Amino acid sequence: MYMALVFALIMDLLKGALKSLRINQQDVLQLRRRESLSKYKYVPLPSDKSIRLFEFHPVNTGKRDIDLEMSIHSLEEAPSFECLSYMWGNPTFAFSRLTAQSNKEYGTNVEITISGGALLVARNLHDALKVLRRRTGCHATTHYYWVDAICIDQENIAERGQQVAIMDNIYCTARNTTVWVGPEDEFTKDAVMLIRDIGKIPLSRHGEVSPQHFNTEQDSTLKRLGCKPQSHKRWLGLIALLNRPYFSRVWIVQEILLSNAVLLVCGKHEVPWALLSNTISFLLTSGWYRSIGVLSFRELPFIVANPGVYKSMLEDKSLDIGMTVVQLETARTGMAQVGHLILFRHLLEAFRPSDASDARDKIYALIGLAWKERPPFSTHPDVLVPDYSLDTREVFIKTARLMFLGYGDLKYLCHVEDRSIRKMKGLPSWVPDYSVRLRPIPFYLLSSSGPRKYYSASKGLPFTLGNSTLLAPQLHVLGFRLSRIKSMARFKSLFTDDAPAVWELDPAWYKVCTFAANITTLQKRTLPP
Ligand SMILES: *[C@@H]1O[C@H](CO)[C@@H](O)[C@H](O)[C@H]1NC(C)=O
Ligand SMILES: *[C@@H]1O[C@H](CO)[C@@H](O)[C@H](O)[C@H]1NC(C)=O
Ligand SMILES: *[C@@H]1O[C@H](CO)[C@@H](O)[C@H](O)[C@H]1NC(C)=O
Repeated sequence: MYMALVFALIMDLLKGALKSLRINQQDVLQLRRRESLSKYKYVPLPSDKSIRLFEFHPVNTGKRDIDLEMSIHSLEEAPSFECLSYMWGNPTFAFSRLTAQSNKEYGTNVEITISGGALLVARNLHDALKVLRRRTGCHATTHYYWVDAICIDQENIAERGQQVAIMDNIYCTARNTTVWVGPEDEFTKDAVMLIRDIGKIPLSRHGEVSPQHFNTEQDSTLKRLGCKPQSHKRWLGLIALLNRPYFSRVWIVQEILLSNAVLLVCGKHEVPWALLSNTISFLLTSGWYRSIGVLSFRELPFIVANPGVYKSMLEDKSLDIGMTVVQLETARTGMAQVGHLILFRHLLEAFRPSDASDARDKIYALIGLAWKERPPFSTHPDVLVPDYSLDTREVFIKTARLMFLGYGDLKYLCHVEDRSIRKMKGLPSWVPDYSVRLRPIPFYLLSSSGPRKYYSASKGLPFTLGNSTLLAPQLHVLGFRLSRIKSMARFKSLFTDDAPAVWELDPAWYKVCTFAANITTLQKRTLPP
């Protein structure tokens, strides 16, 4: 009896213990979630052809909601992998309802686990990883991924430069690339429906449309091409999508143009990039892109009467489909036609308005796409390479000097913007400040149709450059004195971004022009051979 009692007591105690053990287990699990993991330690890459790839743990170990396993491979023998294209900061469109709160939210970092260690990633990357995991969910086989912020040890300056230098190769090698432009907003559906419709118009029929069809017979034109009519709100939706900060990043140029297949993901919507590409190409060929801006829609009676979700966006008259994506598609067409990469000079011009959080990347992000058989790469091989131990000023000086040396002329001086908009301190006057836009637009870029043959400031005069080092702040050139500047023409309105480019030509410009026309005569008379 006594024994039985003791036994029951023991059993009771045991049960209690088991119960508390179960509770403890949950506590432990929660504790472990909160417990600080030690920081993930990058294993050094064995060679400059090595990359890191990660995969999602098949079973989440429960410590953090994103749980990855890292491995090292040589790029040439790497297993099939996918890339991600995204931005580090806040990806929301300035006029969407998501924006109000999001700056603070996107400024925070989230901890993920990699091979048992902890790594802090930007909030937007965390969102993108969840999308990749969602897509991985439907595959039984292992899926490898390459993502810059995770696969490159950001604290290792040497590795960063070296990995950025092979990034073109990484995107070319990847099977495909997911573009994450951020969460869905109130405009996304309109944009996606339009891209799905317009993007299906065959390339061969883009030429059948002319610019005025947009305003006068848009519906019947689209119908003739086998496409449903598109409401004005859908066009506004496209503007809203293309004005997401993602599209202004300079890195996307390489990421998109070099990838084998690209999928655009916005919230739950997925659209093949090829459809967007075809949409833009249609707008370019038809000339419709010039009509697609807030300015041309905001006064339409039915928009005024019922602006719907577009109300606040319609206030910003300057919103249009944006230049980066237009330049990107132009570059793609150009590359396809000529069968090689793009002149570095053209890349620097075309993507000057794009943004980079690190201003050095305004140069480095474009190297991968540059045609290496032309200057400055053909004349100075292996000199212009990503090197994050140089500061921004040095990178800009070195690039400018290499452009002068490589091309053997001073045309590159056109890339220098007006003094009033320069931001960088201590940059020599002859070096373009790539952290700001190029204003005024150089003469030789203004002749939009036909070759740029009307511009020839030096008339092909020989050019000599002193032998200073690449990073020297002075540019020694040989020149001759023509005359003194007596007065300057007003040209102010061209420098402001928001005002329409009105040419306020001052009479002094006519003198400049006749003077220029006289230079040939002058040259014969006064110049040394
Ligand atoms: C990339 O290709 C794989 C294999 O064909 C496919 O499963 C995956 O969905 C593709 N991903 C993207 C982003 O297109
Ligand atoms: C070029 O460099 C050499 C050797 O450093 C020097 O003697 C010469 O004066 C330099 N020439 C110019 C034009 O700077
Ligand atoms: C152009 O040349 C002509 C003849 O040499 C001269 O009369 C005229 O003043 C010149 N114009 C300018 C603006 O230099």
